[in-house]
Amino acid sequence: MVSGRIFRWVIVPLSGLGILLAVYFRELFLRSPPPILQPIPLETAMWSPVESAKFAPNVFRPANNQAQDLGKPEDYIGRPPSHHFRDDGIVEVNPNGQHPIFELIDRAEARWQAKLNRASKNLEEAIQEYRRRYNREPPKGFDVWWDYVEKHNVQLPDEYDHIWRDLEPFWGMNPIDLQRLQKLQESYTDTYTVGKTETDPRIKLLGVSFSFPVTSETQHHLNGAKDFISLIGDLQEHIPPFRAVFSPHDSPTLFTDYQIKAAALEAAAKGSYIDLATVKPGRRLGWLSGCSPSSPARQGNRTSAPQSKKTFIDHHTKAMDPCLHPQILEGHGEFLVHADPGAKEVLVPQFAYCSTKLHHDIQTPLLLSWVEDILPRSDDPVWEFRLDERLGWRGSNTGIYHSPETRWRSAQRARLVDFAQDLNGTVKVLIPSHTSKKVGEGAEIPKQKLNPAIFDIYFAGEPVQCGPTQEFCEQLARAYEWRKRQNIKEAGNVKYILDVDGNAWSSRFKRLITSNALIFKATAYPEWFYDRIEPWVHYIPVQTDYSDLNDSLLFFRGGLYGEGSHENLARKIATDGRTWSKTFWRKEDITAYLFRLFLEYARVMSLDRDSLSYKS
Ligand SMILES: *[C@@H]1O[C@H](CO)[C@@H](O)[C@H](O)[C@H]1NC(C)=O
Ligand SMILES: *[C@@H]1O[C@H](CO)[C@@H](O)[C@H](O)[C@H]1NC(C)=O
Ligand SMILES: *[C@@H]1O[C@H](CO)[C@@H](O)[C@H](O)[C@H]1NC(C)=O
Repeated sequence: MVSGRIFRWVIVPLSGLGILLAVYFRELFLRSPPPILQPIPLETAMWSPVESAKFAPNVFRPANNQAQDLGKPEDYIGRPPSHHFRDDGIVEVNPNGQHPIFELIDRAEARWQAKLNRASKNLEEAIQEYRRRYNREPPKGFDVWWDYVEKHNVQLPDEYDHIWRDLEPFWGMNPIDLQRLQKLQESYTDTYTVGKTETDPRIKLLGVSFSFPVTSETQHHLNGAKDFISLIGDLQEHIPPFRAVFSPHDSPTLFTDYQIKAAALEAAAKGSYIDLATVKPGRRLGWLSGCSPSSPARQGNRTSAPQSKKTFIDHHTKAMDPCLHPQILEGHGEFLVHADPGAKEVLVPQFAYCSTKLHHDIQTPLLLSWVEDILPRSDDPVWEFRLDERLGWRGSNTGIYHSPETRWRSAQRARLVDFAQDLNGTVKVLIPSHTSKKVGEGAEIPKQKLNPAIFDIYFAGEPVQCGPTQEFCEQLARAYEWRKRQNIKEAGNVKYILDVDGNAWSSRFKRLITSNALIFKATAYPEWFYDRIEPWVHYIPVQTDYSDLNDSLLFFRGGLYGEGSHENLARKIATDGRTWSKTFWRKEDITAYLFRLFLEYARVMSLDRDSLSYKS
């Protein structure tokens, strides 16, 4: 599933198409976490304002210090944490505490409940909350947006920090510059432009710049525009005139220089603009140019020593940040493909279907692989009728081009399959238990006993994205055991399903979370919905190095014979995930997101931002 680097590496070189368009649109994207913002932290451009204060104590403090700090577990579970919750979103296990997953679930449930409880109940409250978080007035049309939200029962009406994160740097740029950059971008190959002119109330496709003709075969590259226009429907009349340029690729393309983004955020916080003639990128450091000089990635060793402590994810989008977790750069196709990516010399306002913490593509949700439900319902049995208790995964070897010259072996999918099929040696796992008060250090178990019993993880089909010779593809075919693809009915027999990235974000997540299975998710793409979902409540977050996967799985399913299992919790999270999908990821929820995003976008791009602000 998922494509993009495919195009970059295969279609482009092989067919000379030149573009890539990524295309298989997946469902959308991004989001990141917590609440309570205010202007921005220079140092922490890549993190949320709240998170940031911890790494950059002297730069702009969040204005509203009295707002609850969701980072402290004792605030809401009434006792000190027994494990060490780190600022980078990871919890370190204390062997003398109880199993950390209990605490992770408690903490996540409290956080989710608090978020639901504090949601604005009317327009007035929503405006107040908007001002509190972002320190400015909402965009013009906010009342119409609120009506839509109310009428369609869109939940969590304040949780759109993701939009803020995507657009805030542009507030620090002169709209004259932004319009010029936007216009220039329209002329580049591999873009298309949608928008609305002064004279026509309808949003239209205004231009296409592909290196090939748009035909019935290639027009799916424009699906993002089609989805957008159909989802926004009649609401489009309320969006001020705008032009928006989209990349049809499935991967983000705008790598951000930290220094430029930090300068833009600093200007935005002061209500001024950066001067493009003087603000220049920092030293070229490969992907690390996207990170603050004080970030762990730039302070420490790039390749960290193997972790001696057991760890789990507490805060998922922080765990996706390569500036906090530089090992992501060495283990994910998105980053492995370019050893020395050049950052953009300027921030470019362009939309894409996904992004990472190191890119500034503005993310727009789409409908690729979106499902309302899994039908017929008999293909999605309830928990008790799912017989396979291994962790299941089938997929192609996407994520990177496979050749003797690329680092494909380090990419997320090959690592996963290698790890699940390795039978040599022992592995140390936390032994789940119903009686022990202490989780302990873990016990060594021979992999040949453990792996076949708990993993059903294989490449499916045959090698793709490989070359340059057929011989190399054949080597790949021999190196792995390729299974047949799994259909939806077969997946319905599986209790525990893993979701990992392919060439870009995983479009299958919408279908998976809608099912009655418990979903484990490892990803480097903070999609649009992460402020609106809760790990450990709706799904199980997994580190991209999979170091927590064994222990999470064993906690829920129990040991080799199911001993010490917590299936009741597994069933609950699986069911709550499905309910979440049907309540928080409906077409109406995507529409509300897009509508708000484009009200904001039209304003930040406008020469008269003030007139496009909401007037009570
Ligand atoms: C990086 O690792 C090397 C070898 O382990 C060590 O000598 C050095 O002090 C480390 N540097 C930093 C900045 O941690
Ligand atoms: C298993 O691992 C050991 C130690 O790393 C190595 O010497 C041996 O060759 C491996 N066996 C197989 C079958 O790969
Ligand atoms: C998890 O289990 C697999 C299979 O036994 C093993 O290869 C891997 O090293 C284990 N990972 C950790 C972090 O223990």
